[in-house]
Amino acid sequence: MFHSWSAQGALDPVVVAGGQGSWFWDEDGNRYLDFSSQLVNLNIGHQHPKLVAAIQAQAAELCTVAPIHANAARSEAARLIAELAPGDLDAVFFTNGGAEATENALRMARLATGRHKVLATYRSYHGATAGAIALTGDPRRWPSEPAMPGVVHFWGPYPYRTAFHAADEAEECARALGHLADTIMVEGPATVAAVLLETVVGTNGILVPPEGYLAGVRALCDEHGIVFVADEVMSGFGRCGEWFAVDRWGVTPDLICFAKGVNSGYVPLGGVILSRRIADVFRDRPYPGGLTYSGHPLACAAAVASIGIFKEEGIIEHARRLGRDVIGPELAKLATRHPSVGEVRGLGVFWAVELVRDRATREMLVPYNAAGADAAPMAAVVAACKQRGLWPFTHFNRIHVVPPVNTPEADVRAGLAILDEALEVADRYCR
Ligand SMILES: Cc1ncc(COP(=O)(O)O)c(C=O)c1O
Repeated sequence: MFHSWSAQGALDPVVVAGGQGSWFWDEDGNRYLDFSSQLVNLNIGHQHPKLVAAIQAQAAELCTVAPIHANAARSEAARLIAELAPGDLDAVFFTNGGAEATENALRMARLATGRHKVLATYRSYHGATAGAIALTGDPRRWPSEPAMPGVVHFWGPYPYRTAFHAADEAEECARALGHLADTIMVEGPATVAAVLLETVVGTNGILVPPEGYLAGVRALCDEHGIVFVADEVMSGFGRCGEWFAVDRWGVTPDLICFAKGVNSGYVPLGGVILSRRIADVFRDRPYPGGLTYSGHPLACAAAVASIGIFKEEGIIEHARRLGRDVIGPELAKLATRHPSVGEVRGLGVFWAVELVRDRATREMLVPYNAAGADAAPMAAVVAACKQRGLWPFTHFNRIHVVPPVNTPEADVRAGLAILDEALEVADRYCR
């Protein structure tokens, strides 16, 4: 086994033997409450019996079918996803995951506009294939450079570490939109096919856009005939307490990329939801892209079942309530207790705890992209969590609180209590 993103010699992975709901355990019987949803994909938790049964039933009926054919599971998954998507986004192209969704959105935007450039934000992740990694705005891109030409990065809003010297959210929003408008101007609007952004930035910080930002991006794209692509691979399907995070702001992009939470990764699935206008570009002209496993019946049957379970069990409402009544207020309490907590932010079941050495200067607990000895303070916090049976998600100087979106309130509270204890380790590094 050759593992992703790792020096192979340094690996000592936990051997996962099983999982149930928001918990998993290793072969030695150590149990962990999963505050990472694996890779922020397990929105419905492990081994949901109805989801497992749906995959078993589809496997008994028909395991696979070529993409050229129609198939009931595939059509039903597309229908349900298109119905949930906002506005006139009503055609679905299926992929096997998020990176392929990015690649195809990029291709669609370029072909629909006849333009080649794509603007994407710094502090973003869009996948590890050639185009998707070029669009990514974090250090995972660096080893793949020189990357695909035609990508221009710009700064999105991030009030806590503003690139615009903004004093508050409203100013951050206005200046971030001004910066995007200027970027479009100097790049040449007639060369820009798409603006691509994560509706709520995930791994790079749970950056919730200020009120008015997404509507402003929509207006700029409309003004210049640019395709607005929302990457909802991480933020969609309940994570933000909405089916799609854009619903929170009532904004309709031209393309939405999805994966992860669509079926919690029980069988790999991703895709692009297309507006009628972009789908119609390919009504008489062939779409030049495809994948052997596009619309895989097992993956699509899992999506159909998962969407049904979300509706039956009120999982979207549960996620919203967890964010509003439990995670938000409890993290706010942690922020008052721990000097290492610089900021907490998020919505739904999508939260970040940003750790600092000094609240006044906002110096990060560990430097940007820290590794080895530089990252030791974060490694110590992670170890403190794991010793207490909590599996955390960390990135740079942040802990993200991202358990399965249907995690029972009592488990969420128990996990936050462990986090409270573990943060005492971070406090020791404060000046
Ligand atoms: C926002 C976003 N886009 C794209 C991807 C890539 O998805 P995948 O790993 O399924 O290719 C990810 C993965 O974490 C993601 O978070």
